[in-house]
Amino acid sequence: MTIRVRLIVQTVFLQVISLLLLAYGVFAVQRSLGERDVARAETQIRLAVARTASDALIQRDQVQLLSYLNFLKVQYPALTYARTVWRIGSRTARQSLGAAPADANVVERRVMVSDPAAGDRTVEVFFGVNQDILHQTARESERRMIKVLALVGALTALVGLALAILLSRSLSRSLSALSRMAEQISEGRLGVHLEWKSEDEIGALVRVFNNMSARLADLDTAKKNFVSSVTHELRSPLGAIESFLPLIREKVLSGDRASLTLALEYMDRIQANVQRLNRFITDLLDVAKIEQGKMECVLRRMELAPICAEVAQFFEAKARAQGVSVENRVQDVPPVMGDGDRVRQVLVNLIANALKFTPQGGRIWIAAEQVRDGGDRRLEVTVGDTGRGIDPADQRRLFQPFTQGRNVAEGVAGPKGTGLGLYIVKSIIDQHGGRLEIRSARDEGTRITFSLKVAA
Ligand SMILES: Nc1ncnc2c1ncn2[C@@H]1O[C@H](COP(=O)(O)OP(=O)(O)O)[C@@H](O)[C@H]1O
Ligand SMILES: [Mg+2]
Repeated sequence: MTIRVRLIVQTVFLQVISLLLLAYGVFAVQRSLGERDVARAETQIRLAVARTASDALIQRDQVQLLSYLNFLKVQYPALTYARTVWRIGSRTARQSLGAAPADANVVERRVMVSDPAAGDRTVEVFFGVNQDILHQTARESERRMIKVLALVGALTALVGLALAILLSRSLSRSLSALSRMAEQISEGRLGVHLEWKSEDEIGALVRVFNNMSARLADLDTAKKNFVSSVTHELRSPLGAIESFLPLIREKVLSGDRASLTLALEYMDRIQANVQRLNRFITDLLDVAKIEQGKMECVLRRMELAPICAEVAQFFEAKARAQGVSVENRVQDVPPVMGDGDRVRQVLVNLIANALKFTPQGGRIWIAAEQVRDGGDRRLEVTVGDTGRGIDPADQRRLFQPFTQGRNVAEGVAGPKGTGLGLYIVKSIIDQHGGRLEIRSARDEGTRITFSLKVAA
């Protein structure tokens, strides 16, 4: 049975049960009211008969009693017959009026009155009360009640059924949309998105599904990027080394001065490629450490300014060759809590990126500013450049491993990179309890700011 059918059946079942209970309650109340009315009607007849008998007794008129009773018989149809017994001293006189129908449910009642002025004068009246007639009104209003209840019940059941169908349709629609989506994901169409606007639990579930789907797509891209960057980053420096080695052998063998100078130049190229391999493998090891939660930073009181100066100087030659200036503006800042080697790694990564995306004539700088963050004092360190900038759509993703922005495809100075730098930077800054923020606009440059706690 589908959820939809089950929901409808259960709702209708619940509704029928509650209607039946309600009807039972109303019916019971109605019945007890009806019984009270019957008892009251019977008392009324008995009182009327007694009053009539006592009037006739006082006036000593047997004929009058008979005609009174006749009159009462017309007034109360339930009064079917009456028999009177007069006693005066030892004399007895009997009279009767009407008879009980053969198949009717008639109950005989009796009243007896005596003359207050003469104790030996009494009149006894036996009269039949037709129970069917007495109960007739109660039965009629019961029947009316049942009709009304049935009508109301049918109407509410219809409305309830319609509501149950609507509700189940809206529920099952969302469920089948979600299951279609899950099916697409399982078929490999990662990143599918379900458009669903509601603020309820279903809306929340759809949002979770959408996030999951986006995350799966990101992971899939990361996996593809991983394979392609590992192949590329290993193959291209190895290929370069492989092709330079025979050239060096050739130059060394020829032995003249010019050839030897060339051989030296090739060796420099080999060294650069070995460094590149080394950097990539170090990055991979760092990523492995991060994934295993083993990247630990030991925070100590440290001076930031000398590290900034050192890193700026390290990149100076390369920047000059590229026609870009690197300026270190960090001076006179308070000591911070950090892991010196890891903070250096952050700065190296950020400046290497800046250099990669800043064309000739551009500027790169490192600056620091002290800010208050609640009770804490923090130092915000910014690496800025006047380079190409990052697409707004990319900014959210770049902290994931093996993820690069689309600006890489437009050509960069030197190797394209692997998309690990910002991921490692983010993990290091997280370990420092700091924040990392990208501010960037296309063709206007990039500022990446990280914060460190100022040492007490
Ligand atoms: N200063 C910057 N200017 C422009 N784009 C940048 C800058 N820094 C980072 N990016 C973008 O972020 C991406 C990820 O950087 P990163 O994680 O260091 O990887 P990689 O440098 O290997 O590409 C880069 O590919 C680039 O698209
Ligand atoms: Mg990088």
